[in-house]
Amino acid sequence: MKFSVTAAAVSVLAVDSASASRFDWSSQAIGALNSRGGCCAALMKAPRLKGKVFGKNSTQYQDRLETYYSANAALEPWCMVLPTSTEDVAQIAKVISQKECPFGIKSGGHSAFAGSNGVRDGITIDFGYLNETTYDEASKIASIGPGSNWAMAYDVLDPYGVSAVGGRASVVGVGGFTTGGGYSFHSGTHGFACDSVQNFEVVLADGSVVNANPDEHADLFKALKGGSGNFGFVTRVDQRVVDSNMMWGGFVSYDLSKRDAVFSAYLTFAENMSEDTASQNIVALYYDETGYSLRSILTNVEAKPAPPAFDEYLAIANTSTTVRVGTVAELVPEFTGPTPLGLYAEWMAGMTTNDARVLEFIDEKHKEYSEKMKAAAPDSNFNVLVQFQPVTDAIVSHANDNGGNVLGLEEVIADGPTLMWLIAVTADSAENQKKIHPLSLEFRDAVNEYATKIGANKNWDYLNYAYGDQDPIASYGPKSVEVLKAAATKYDPKSVFQRLRVSGFKLPS
Ligand SMILES: Cc1cc2nc3c(=O)[nH]c(=O)nc-3n(C[C@H](O)[C@H](O)[C@H](O)COP(=O)(O)OP(=O)(O)OC[C@H]3O[C@@H](n4cnc5c(N)ncnc54)[C@H](O)[C@@H]3O)c2cc1C
Ligand SMILES: *[C@@H]1O[C@H](CO)[C@@H](O)[C@H](O)[C@H]1NC(C)=O
Ligand SMILES: *[C@@H]1O[C@H](CO)[C@@H](O)[C@H](O)[C@H]1NC(C)=O
Ligand SMILES: *[C@@H]1O[C@H](CO)[C@@H](O)[C@H](O)[C@H]1NC(C)=O
Ligand SMILES: *[C@@H]1O[C@H](CO)[C@@H](O)[C@H](O)[C@H]1NC(C)=O
Repeated sequence: MKFSVTAAAVSVLAVDSASASRFDWSSQAIGALNSRGGCCAALMKAPRLKGKVFGKNSTQYQDRLETYYSANAALEPWCMVLPTSTEDVAQIAKVISQKECPFGIKSGGHSAFAGSNGVRDGITIDFGYLNETTYDEASKIASIGPGSNWAMAYDVLDPYGVSAVGGRASVVGVGGFTTGGGYSFHSGTHGFACDSVQNFEVVLADGSVVNANPDEHADLFKALKGGSGNFGFVTRVDQRVVDSNMMWGGFVSYDLSKRDAVFSAYLTFAENMSEDTASQNIVALYYDETGYSLRSILTNVEAKPAPPAFDEYLAIANTSTTVRVGTVAELVPEFTGPTPLGLYAEWMAGMTTNDARVLEFIDEKHKEYSEKMKAAAPDSNFNVLVQFQPVTDAIVSHANDNGGNVLGLEEVIADGPTLMWLIAVTADSAENQKKIHPLSLEFRDAVNEYATKIGANKNWDYLNYAYGDQDPIASYGPKSVEVLKAAATKYDPKSVFQRLRVSGFKLPS
């Protein structure tokens, strides 16, 4: 047993997040219209779902709660349903549409905030058993179940000498990652993960199964590339693979005194990313009970050791490094690091111009807020991770490779590379998270306020890194929102995914 989620612990936090969250995930209004058992009973009665619907009294239900990356997201629904085929999902869609059942969508269960993938007052549709990857060598297409994680997909592809534009941590799920964009080690050469998708198999609200690709339902296809769970249930992702399974990369740690040199190397790298699209970098600031640390992640997907793009980094003395050549399947678990499930994680993000002042401000606030959090929760073993990563023309130029996406980044990066920042705060208990959480939001808001004040704020929020009170889809811009609304009206005329889906990010109202 990796952790135990007590009902009390989850609901303490759940109540708290409800007030912070812009959407009514608890959906009491909808829940009140349904007898608690009505929806679950209807699912249980469907012949094809026999043995796939689990109530609180079952061990499967308790086991599935433990598959969430973040314990605060592991809400206890009325019941869970675990489809094992597209036909099962079609049946589920029919029941929830007919009975007006509130629901949540969970694929990898890797999103962190309470209400990002599960529900309490409703049914959690858990795609974790749709986790198979098959590979067709002739077409170079990997067909990946949404409930797979990226480690599982890389392991299937590796013997063929190919890889995929996927997650940079083993545990990240496929369904949420891909429909939210998907920033990969291959993004410089291939764009976001969604840009390599050739086809989504989708179950619509009425239970019909459609393929969405550049030739069929092209509007739905485009909407799914950034539009997340707003249109249907993705039951299969057909993605073109990457032609090599090798990469170079690893962590490089520095003494804190090297901060300015590392920040300078980061800024230079982002400016020049288009000159070597196979190379990528992340800079990470970290605090935990052992103190502060500073490191970079340097990678090259052509497996070239220490390419010239990293000259400025490589001139900085390091305290340790793990860089090496290996397969993607081998290296990604290393980047994942120890991620024990069952901790109380949440993260939030924003975007600015590629500006040294922003890096320095965030570093100062990282220290200030880590101390404030320590004071607020003195007994907690918690950590505060900040990451910087560039979003540049090299990445965004792939937006139209294959039917377009709705991320709306073309205008955002038009006047130069941008800096995507992420704050991830992980606590050891619900009680401690509750004490720390307001300070995490304050930290984020301080960064946005400063960035706006100096004219650096790009006001674009990456869906896969956003907290529940952010509105990432609105940040894609009015043109994308229009495309998304048109697709929702056409493919979900009864608005099932806006009204009844209570997890994840919705279309702006
Ligand atoms: C350690 C760590 C590493 C990470 N690395 C990366 C990274 O390298 N790059 C990156 O971009 N992000 C990264 N993330 C964030 C990650 O992309 C998101 O958490 C993503 O949502 C995970 O996908 P999932 O399938 O686990 O989503 P879930 O949490 O299961 O679902 C999230 C939402 O996605 C939608 N969704 C999921 N499945 C479906 C489906 N089948 N049909 C329709 N909608 C669906 C739903 O709206 C759902 O509410 C990382 C996070 C952490 C903590
Ligand atoms: C769990 O409870 C439901 C009713 O709530 C019942 O139908 C089912 O048989 C129970 N399952 C187990 C494994 O006890
Ligand atoms: C994958 O799905 C199968 C059922 O289709 C399930 O038995 C198995 O446990 C799943 N694997 C993981 C790692 O979740
Ligand atoms: C990076 O780009 C700048 C221009 O933005 C150029 O002057 C410089 O030579 C480049 N540096 C490297 C290492 O390529
Ligand atoms: C790290 O430091 C060692 C020892 O000085 C050096 O040989 C190596 O090139 C450095 N590696 C990186 C990635 O900075």
